[in-house]
Amino acid sequence: MSRLFRIAIDGPAASGKSTTAKLLAKKLGFSYIDSGAMFRAVTLKCQLENVNPNDISAHNKIVEIAKRCKIRFPSLGKVELDGQDVSELIRTSDITRNISLIASNPDVREVLANQQRAMAKGELPGAVSNGFEREGKGIIKGVVMDGRDIGTVILPNAELKVFIVADVHIRAKRRFDELKKRQGAALTDTLDQVEKDLEARDLADRTRKIAPLLQAKDAVMMDTSYLTIEEQVNAIENMVYERI
Ligand code: CDP
Repeated sequence: MSRLFRIAIDGPAASGKSTTAKLLAKKLGFSYIDSGAMFRAVTLKCQLENVNPNDISAHNKIVEIAKRCKIRFPSLGKVELDGQDVSELIRTSDITRNISLIASNPDVREVLANQQRAMAKGELPGAVSNGFEREGKGIIKGVVMDGRDIGTVILPNAELKVFIVADVHIRAKRRFDELKKRQGAALTDTLDQVEKDLEARDLADRTRKIAPLLQAKDAVMMDTSYLTIEEQVNAIENMVYERI
């Protein structure tokens, strides 16, 4: 007997969703789908094809680009676009600053939403879920998906929904440290700039008309401001066991 356990993790930028989701997926043997990476990949492809995401007249072209994007998660934390590893390229500040218009485009969202739902069901190639064995319950396979609208729009019937929040100064510091680690001396953004960018993106994500960042009614809220990654992962892992 095997069943599918879906975990939806939503929350504002740099709240620790991706790191938590990745480690949780590893511990449970579940697949991990980073929905933000999919919006980032579409933004990158627009950039590669010299299409300005801020150009309203390019709407149809942008939707057509989204449809052509072949996005895969070949291994935990790796993202492929059209067969190329873009895991690092999609995380530059340039991509991050141009993403909000792509993410508020209803037609792009529909293209990606269909792919996200298909990946969660295992109908599209994504990361493999081997699952784990629970006495008396058989093999539990599953998926961890993180983003902004996973619990509200993409997987409204997920078995577990977590809404992660954290103080904005702490989130900015975490993102700044992450960028510094990735880019080293090439990083030109200051901590202050990173915090301003985070606030602008959160506002855009919270106030857009379609699929805004919102806590689902049945989601468990988790404030990670003063938690370690290990504490976050363990807490969600225990929630999974309680629900099985
Ligand atoms: O890692 P970080 O929290 O900075 O962002 P991300 O999860 O990679 O998502 C980047 C952006 O994609 C977000 O700010 C949203 O505008 C958009 N996004 C979305 O609209 N819906 C999702 N399910 C995931 C991301």
